[in-house]
Amino acid sequence: MKNFVSVNDVSNIDALVQKALAYKANPYIDKTLGTNKRIGCLFLNPSMRTRLSTQIAAQNLGMEPIIFNVGSEGWMLEFEEEAIMSGTTVEHVKDAAPVFGKYFDILAIRTFPSLKNREDDYSELYIKQFIKYAGIPVVSLESSTLHPLQSLTDIITITEELEKSKIINLKPKIVLTWAPHVKPLPQCVANSFAQWVNAWGKADFVITHPEDYELSGEFTKGATVTHDQNEALKDADFVYVKNWSTFNDYGKIYESDPRWMLTNKKLAITNNAKVMHCLPVRRNVELSDEILDGSNSIITQEAANRVWAAQAVLSEILRNNG
Ligand code: CP
Repeated sequence: MKNFVSVNDVSNIDALVQKALAYKANPYIDKTLGTNKRIGCLFLNPSMRTRLSTQIAAQNLGMEPIIFNVGSEGWMLEFEEEAIMSGTTVEHVKDAAPVFGKYFDILAIRTFPSLKNREDDYSELYIKQFIKYAGIPVVSLESSTLHPLQSLTDIITITEELEKSKIINLKPKIVLTWAPHVKPLPQCVANSFAQWVNAWGKADFVITHPEDYELSGEFTKGATVTHDQNEALKDADFVYVKNWSTFNDYGKIYESDPRWMLTNKKLAITNNAKVMHCLPVRRNVELSDEILDGSNSIITQEAANRVWAAQAVLSEILRNNG
């Protein structure tokens, strides 16, 4: 593995999942792998879990993590080639990224989409420019369209639950359901979850959302898509709850019907499904208190697993880029 920006950087998902679970069982087994190595974690946007879990993962491997809040503390970066920088941007990524490449051994970056121009967001210009100009491995801490560390975590958590329930040979039914929200949110988590579950290929995968909330077929191809949430939830083993804004008429909120929020009544349709969410979550808008505080929620376990996902990825990169 050279970079980690999507599932396409992973040659064997199950092997990476097992590596992460091995780190969960024994966090310090590779505590000298990253000795004298440094990871720069650049945040153009806020984060809690991604920031902390990546720091912990790096430290478990003996690496030094340095956090830089570019969005609030750094110079405003320009990403367009041949830009005439007479506006608000102060430094071109072409000049900044090679400097990061000299300071660090691995560069990790979080950016969000603008949700204004779909073509720009889906071009993934920011992360591509860092890959082009940094000259060192790049890890996505969430980009304009994907959140691969979250999705790896999600597959780890599902695998862990399947191993716990000893139904590892059965094909679980996994449902990704849209949920209401007060703000237009990126499609990253939903895109990425769909991309990883499809690539993993070990589930009966159903996506449910209101009309007009179709995600890009690039990521959902292979899944069953329905607008009937109750039909989708029937016999589900895992329900992944997430809001996203519209993809076609880009970045809009068309629907906020509270009946799309998962409740215990809806959970009764499922096969006693485990409920997942990447967090942060708006209580009683996106997910009900009764689900979040109930025994089917594996959301805290899921967030805790972010450490092992990050540790497995950093370990792969350290081994392959000595
Ligand atoms: N799930 C997730 O990425 O959380 P943060 O935004 O807090 O990092």
